[in-house]
Amino acid sequence: MIDLKDTYLNYFKERNHAIIKSAPLIPENDPTCLFNTAGMQQLVPYLMGQAHPLGKRLCDVQKCFRLTDIDEVGDSVHHTFFEMLGNWSLGDYFKEESIKYSFEFLTKYLNIPIERLAVTIFRGNDMVKKDEVSESVWKSLGISEDRIAYLGEDDNWWPNMTSIGPAGSDTEIFYFNSDDEIPQKFDPEDDRWVEIWNNVFMEYYHSEKGFKKLEQKNVDTGMGVERTTAILEGVHDNYMSSIWIDLIKLIEEKSGKNYDENKKDMRIVADHMRASIMIASENLVPSNTDQGYILRRMIRRMVRFARNIELDINEEFITDFTNIICSKYSKYYSELETNKNKIINTILDETVKFSRTLEKGLKEFNKICDILTKQGIDNINGKTVFRLYDTFGFPPELTQEEASNVGMSADIDGFDKYFKEHQEKSRQGSMEKFKGGLQDHSIENIKYHTATHLLHQALRDVLGNDVCQRGSNINTQRLRFDFSFPRKLTDEEKQKVEDIVNQKIQEGLVVKQEEMSLEDAQNSGAIGLFTDRYGDRVKVYSIGDYSKEICGGPHVENTNCLGKFKIIKEEAVSSGVRRIKATLSD
Ligand code: ALA
Repeated sequence: MIDLKDTYLNYFKERNHAIIKSAPLIPENDPTCLFNTAGMQQLVPYLMGQAHPLGKRLCDVQKCFRLTDIDEVGDSVHHTFFEMLGNWSLGDYFKEESIKYSFEFLTKYLNIPIERLAVTIFRGNDMVKKDEVSESVWKSLGISEDRIAYLGEDDNWWPNMTSIGPAGSDTEIFYFNSDDEIPQKFDPEDDRWVEIWNNVFMEYYHSEKGFKKLEQKNVDTGMGVERTTAILEGVHDNYMSSIWIDLIKLIEEKSGKNYDENKKDMRIVADHMRASIMIASENLVPSNTDQGYILRRMIRRMVRFARNIELDINEEFITDFTNIICSKYSKYYSELETNKNKIINTILDETVKFSRTLEKGLKEFNKICDILTKQGIDNINGKTVFRLYDTFGFPPELTQEEASNVGMSADIDGFDKYFKEHQEKSRQGSMEKFKGGLQDHSIENIKYHTATHLLHQALRDVLGNDVCQRGSNINTQRLRFDFSFPRKLTDEEKQKVEDIVNQKIQEGLVVKQEEMSLEDAQNSGAIGLFTDRYGDRVKVYSIGDYSKEICGGPHVENTNCLGKFKIIKEEAVSSGVRRIKATLSD
């Protein structure tokens, strides 16, 4: 069997591309995005003209995570975590060579018959004319007019017309992945045609002011490993390819259930387990903020779907699954092997916590059912579905499933309405719970609150961006701040953090508050409580240029009133979580 990743890297290496390492899933120096979603993300400065130390031709296999696809997971082709193969020209070759490489690789190295290929090409808009160069190159390679679709900026412009950064038109390559007879004419809407490779011609930069030409013409390509592997192995379901089959078999074995009858649940368990392992391998632990919140959500969702197939997510299952992942991926991502025990413990801890929540929720659910049954009611109203969700962490789909198991129904529309109404309130509420101790707005408390923001940022500066808030509690005597970090801090690190905070206090930084959508807040680089309910208005507090955090406030107006900051204790709270207590004095 062809090893797609190695064949790809070798092909481009032989054509003078340097192989670069995958960037981490959790971007190192880019607070504007939570996860790495494409191969080009680590290359932005080089696409814009900076010289890359390894030259103008690069290739890699990149770990990616796209939360936007989470609701699609369960079908045969979507995944949250996936791998992307990419080759880049940084101001070197352009459309012609790029398309020729792709075509040669697919037809000569992967032996894909040309009859199964089709492409899309940018048809032009007000600013850029139709991509006739790509058109003529594809035709010269034997792709017929019938197999070319000319599409607009929604389909053939990457990443889109609105994001800030390098951009350009693209040509996408599709494969006819079905046993049906191949239609003569390519229809990009027909989902038997699967997109496998995207060649983006990045020659523009998009800023708030509009598009302008970059100094150099770049190529940025991306090929999905999971899809292409399935195609090479002749399966129409990604999960039946060599990437997933052992994992699906493990799930079948441990649940005693059959994949064919439980595809959706098993796919979601497999997908979310793999993604959780990959995220946890980068030293991340579940939390209520940022990436930690996503990890928590992935694990909890996985546990819920595992319940549907009576699969117990216990230590043995987690260990077996992690071992399979390590054996497949450690060659590319050594952090998997290094952090194996930690990964297993992280997932197990969260699973145990969530199982308790589920149990409590189920008890409450049964109580509700008893009461309703006695009253002759067979529908759980929206308010109750919402209460189960809000108080017991019981997702509405689960209430619905449980209700139908006992011959009842649940009012999900009612839940949605209630959810929306309470969205703002509950978000603020959870923020306050999370921030802790803020109910008392005495001046001492307010000072400690601002000092907490400085501390949070200083910890990230000294220890890295893996640090995120796990809890906070303030009284008039001290602040207490819990954060994710795997080990004890050295005296030197504590001193550094303390010095930075004192420095920022002395600088007399102005504290500013703005209100914006959660999405804008995240895009602006604000850290803090993350929820996936976009559209909410949130308050963002900035302290000079130093710290920016989503937070309910209140804060002092200027850091110069805070006095002297001192760390009085640093200790462990639980595995992966540290606690700092600190004081302010005049
Ligand atoms: N950056 C392009 C993509 O992700 C190749 O599709």
